[in-house]
Amino acid sequence: MSLSLREYSRVVFFTGAGLSAESGVPTYRGSGGIWDSYDYRDYACQSAFERDPGKVLDFHEERRSVALSCEPNDAHRRIARFASGSSSSLILTQNIDGLQQRAGAGRVLELHGSLWRLRCDPCGKVREDLASPQYSTRHCDCGRILRPDIVWFEDLLDSSLLESAIRAISDCDCLLSVGTSASVYPAAELPLIAMQAGATTIEINLEETPLSPLYHHSLQGKASEILSELIS
Ligand code: OAD
Repeated sequence: MSLSLREYSRVVFFTGAGLSAESGVPTYRGSGGIWDSYDYRDYACQSAFERDPGKVLDFHEERRSVALSCEPNDAHRRIARFASGSSSSLILTQNIDGLQQRAGAGRVLELHGSLWRLRCDPCGKVREDLASPQYSTRHCDCGRILRPDIVWFEDLLDSSLLESAIRAISDCDCLLSVGTSASVYPAAELPLIAMQAGATTIEINLEETPLSPLYHHSLQGKASEILSELIS
């Protein structure tokens, strides 16, 4: 392949669950996807949390347990290495598993939040909670139950984070989308900004997505294999 990311200085990596699939973290959609086994209305929305916080927290502890049992893969590591050697590049992820950071990436914008944080909306407190599958506490100092700091279905994205993402995408010279089904909005439409701004756009996925025809290069295959050619 003659395509090389080394030709670009302001790369935005836009990543989804397919990036962590080779580590063993299940994707959300497709066979074996999380939303095949769990109804998001019972596990991943604010009303489910209000109805049965224990059930929702148990589900997220299970997700933490899976993430902790998995290691970053070669694709995470290549992205991390490229971004640390290119101060104007940015990693923008929809993933909440933290594997990209564990691969050594410095700054990662987590559009959909993180399994490793909890928050209390009434107090505005955010609590980092790393290391073990179980949350170290399920309660805020104020006594209320903490909720995972994750953008669930029907939640809004954090506006300042979204602004930073849009700024970087508008100014990049290459946008590389890796392992996302392009089905969850507004994240899914972010690559369109790079397309309109004239950046080179590349997609890596096992299969075609609704946005594939719009990319300059839509590359089908495993993230780790294609990235080893794009970042050699
Ligand atoms: P999806 O599960 O919707 O899509 C994963 C994509 O990765 C699919 O298009 C697969 O074809 C592709 N894929 C799988 N293995 C791959 C591999 N080894 N190499 C390359 N591609 C591969 O995941 P997302 O698009 O990330 O929200 O889903 C978006 C959001 O929906 C998630 O952030 C999540 C979910 O509800 C939250 O967690 C808040």
